[in-house]
Amino acid sequence: MRNTLIESARNKLIFALDADNYKEALSWIKLLSGHVGMFKVGKELFTSVGPKIIESIKERGQKVFLDLKFHDIPNTVARAAQAAVRLNVDMFNVHASGGKQMIKEAVAAARACADKITATRPIILAVTVLTSLNDADLAEIGFSGTTGEQVIHLARLAKNAGVSGVVASAQDIELLRSNFDDKFIIVTPGIRSVGSTAKDDQKRTLSAYEAIKRGADYIVVGRPISTAPKPLEACRQIVHEIAGGLTTR
Ligand code: C5P
Repeated sequence: MRNTLIESARNKLIFALDADNYKEALSWIKLLSGHVGMFKVGKELFTSVGPKIIESIKERGQKVFLDLKFHDIPNTVARAAQAAVRLNVDMFNVHASGGKQMIKEAVAAARACADKITATRPIILAVTVLTSLNDADLAEIGFSGTTGEQVIHLARLAKNAGVSGVVASAQDIELLRSNFDDKFIIVTPGIRSVGSTAKDDQKRTLSAYEAIKRGADYIVVGRPISTAPKPLEACRQIVHEIAGGLTTR
């Protein structure tokens, strides 16, 4: 496959750095730097280790997706967004259900802070409906409508408030693509290889090839790489699957 295609494919792969200690996280960073497009730092790792993990990733010239799903009053989320910009992250997210004002203030604060310190403006994403929730869970919380309807409703609200895209399950990619233009970024977790027999908590999964073919801009992959007998080979295999998906678009 052409090198430029492989390079584009690699840029679309986000590795979920799901560890609870610095040593383990650092060993993954060392192994996968240059082989993935971004490292996702979530609540477990950030709460355990703190900002130094982000510094370690950035020191190696790699990109960071800070997956802390901010959800609070507008002033607090705006200040958290500024703190994320000061950490020089490339992507971070907020909960769309925090509302229009919260999202608008976060986007404005991130932009202003990035411009002030001449940092790159990070990509800001919204989480719509957690993929762990089904229609019955939504009704119980007090939301009306199906998960699909909520996903579109919240994605539209978040887009109007200024986000660049959403985190969405593989099942929702086509629905989102039919409602939003190609510039709206879709980041998709829950990726499993075609032949995977792994038994874990991801139920509604899709292969990397299929997710990219359907229109995902980035895919988030954790355990299919971290629990593989040969993680680097698994990572390369997924990059090839992404490249295959890209050739269909
Ligand atoms: O190991 P696995 O490939 O399932 O990792 C997926 C990553 O994406 C995890 O860090 C998980 O928290 C995250 N995620 C998810 N489903 C969502 C949102 C995020 O699996 N809806």
